Amino acid sequence: MDLDLKDKIALVTGGSRGIGEGIVAGLAAEGCKVITCARNQQALDESVAGMRKKGFDVSGVVMDITEKEAADTLINEIIAEHSRIDVLVNNVGGNCRGEFDTLSDENWEELLNLNLTSHIRISRATVKVMKKQGSGSIIFITSIFGREAGGKGLAIYNTTKSAMISMAKIMAVELAGQGIRVNSVAPGSIRFPGGSWDKRCIADPEGMAKFTGQNLPLGRFGSREEVANVVTFLASGRASLVTGTCINVDGCQSKSLI
Ligand SMILES: NC(=O)c1ccc[n+]([C@@H]2O[C@H](COP(=O)([O-])OP(=O)(O)OC[C@H]3O[C@@H](n4cnc5c(N)ncnc54)[C@H](OP(=O)(O)O)[C@@H]3O)[C@@H](O)[C@H]2O)c1
Repeated sequence: MDLDLKDKIALVTGGSRGIGEGIVAGLAAEGCKVITCARNQQALDESVAGMRKKGFDVSGVVMDITEKEAADTLINEIIAEHSRIDVLVNNVGGNCRGEFDTLSDENWEELLNLNLTSHIRISRATVKVMKKQGSGSIIFITSIFGREAGGKGLAIYNTTKSAMISMAKIMAVELAGQGIRVNSVAPGSIRFPGGSWDKRCIADPEGMAKFTGQNLPLGRFGSREEVANVVTFLASGRASLVTGTCINVDGCQSKSLI
């Protein structure tokens, strides 16, 4: 299938490692010119250099997307260089574990800012550009724990990931008549070198084998390439009827019927 993504301009937040880096590679392999961002300059430079070695057109901007001015700075820089944005993947995200009554205002503010507000600002600035173009695809990387309860200690994470899915749906409805599609992708447990699941598997192989047997019907973790494949399809015009949805990429890990 030709995804017709050659020379499309794609912004992927948090692409210096992990799932974001996988998405950068997936889009770049289809011919997109990809811009990504992260806070740590060295890791970002190394990732971008690795992509370029493969012949991919990837560039990196060092920035903390939780800073109030970050969204406008990032989008203005991309427009100055490329004049358009065809694809936005809101990938940055983190977790703050703790039972509800132990979580402080600061805990809530920090993760709401990282997992939600920063994506609102970047998406709002991008939508203005996409409306002028009359086209675009926006994808939020949420989690299966935005669709069902993740369990104890995940009040903030679950809340932010559910909120992303709700927001994406309303955006999709509002923007449907203007050529802009908005979707969410909900990964299950994704393992990659240096990631949180990888560290747990190395630290506790027996415990994680048990976890795998009990929670992962395919008998294995997902890979970032498997997430990137779905994101790349959604980014492309081949997904022209797909908007306002949330797609699990979880090997049947989640229990929710919807
Ligand atoms: N891994 C999983 O199993 C899994 C499962 C479900 C959902 N997800 C979701 O998938 C997304 C990616 O997860 P991941 O596991 O790949 O995360 P990760 O390994 O922690 O990578 C996060 C990326 O975002 C960047 N980043 C973090 N904070 C940032 C900030 N304030 N400003 C700019 N860049 C920032 C990081 O670089 P710097 O640290 O240098 O800034 C890094 O490039 C998240 O939204 C996560 O919730 C992951």
